[in-house]
Amino acid sequence: MNLSALRSQFPALMQKVDGAAPIFFDGPGGAQVPQSVLEAMSAYLGFYNSNLGGAFFSSDKTVAVMGEARQAIADLLNSPSAGQIVFGANMTSLTFSFSRAISRQWQANDEIIVTNADHYSNVSSWRQAAEDKGATVHALRINEEDCTLDMAHFESLLNANTKLVAVTYASNTTGSINDVKRMIEMAHQYGALVYVDAVHYAPHELIDVQDLDCDFLACSAYKFFGPHVGIVYGKREHLEGFTPYKVEPAKDVVPGRWETGTQSFEGLAGVVAAVEYIASLSELDASHARRKRLEAAFTNSKMHEMALSKHFLSRLKEFPQIKLFGITDESRLAQRTPTFALTFEGLEPRQVSEFLGKHHVCVWDGNFYAQGLCEQLGVMDKGGVVRIGCMHYNTIEEIDRLFELFAQLLG
Ligand SMILES: Cc1ncc(COP(=O)(O)O)c(C=O)c1O
Repeated sequence: MNLSALRSQFPALMQKVDGAAPIFFDGPGGAQVPQSVLEAMSAYLGFYNSNLGGAFFSSDKTVAVMGEARQAIADLLNSPSAGQIVFGANMTSLTFSFSRAISRQWQANDEIIVTNADHYSNVSSWRQAAEDKGATVHALRINEEDCTLDMAHFESLLNANTKLVAVTYASNTTGSINDVKRMIEMAHQYGALVYVDAVHYAPHELIDVQDLDCDFLACSAYKFFGPHVGIVYGKREHLEGFTPYKVEPAKDVVPGRWETGTQSFEGLAGVVAAVEYIASLSELDASHARRKRLEAAFTNSKMHEMALSKHFLSRLKEFPQIKLFGITDESRLAQRTPTFALTFEGLEPRQVSEFLGKHHVCVWDGNFYAQGLCEQLGVMDKGGVVRIGCMHYNTIEEIDRLFELFAQLLG
């Protein structure tokens, strides 16, 4: 990838703050946005701001934008059809609404599995739905040495009463990727549905919902260089079979029956541009199918992200005062995203992020709503961790600057 050319497409990466270029390691909390996405959103609002179903040009354009956005996400996720893509305000709101609909059929003997690796949008939603029905919720443990899920524990939790498994594809805190495909196969043997949270995974890896055979998969466009739009893919039989809570006059057809209220159409225009931006990271030109370009793009960005991870982990060895939670083995870089959860001897996570923030290096500290993970790792009551989140637009030089600042901070 031509890093300087792609970075020049991001106004945020080109700006100066107090005369210096800021460094963004905050991607897992929300990625930076290329100019093409800003332009698509501004053009929609400037010329076509409307709603669905009117007898005039801007409404026609709004319908077209929505269709294009569904097709763009279908390409990104390899959905068999665009009609299986549902939009909403964000992943959390969509997951709460899917959990209400799916749990209508649950009963007292039913069991649900959530995980200690997940952001609580994929935990609280199911836990609260289960509480309403008297169903039992099991929390799947992580392996503390690499923060992946404990598959033996998973096997022991599955049984004929398991109705649903809610699992994250990759941890938003440690970057560990879970073997979700195998978990889906195992869950399906017991007739359980699987709802995959791919919010953290989506900007880093190519998703293939058909290969996974997941029942539902959720992601969020602001994590993959787009605006704030939530997304759920569902198998058609489920989108048709479950009954959402919806306003009665709204059409009861898939996928719109799952979309409550007016969508952010400018956001959907931005979603199309964001998927096109990712596809542009491939060396293939626009004459190739978008899915093909996306495949090549993710191969390129993964290669760069693995190089960032390798460099980060090797520099970290110079600092015995810093502890990393997650995969450290260089032979397993493909099994993690370049997201690093750190604690510092003698310093609160907030002290570290504030020091870096003063130097315009943007990192998050806290638990990132990954409460089960932070509890199991014993950092929940200690301010969580410092999260360094690299994206494909980050550079080796930026990582070196971060470690220079670590050296200053640790004296
Ligand atoms: C892994 C993961 N899942 C879910 C969410 C929630 O997504 P949203 O902000 O779209 O509700 C986040 C947000 O940070 C996340 O990182």
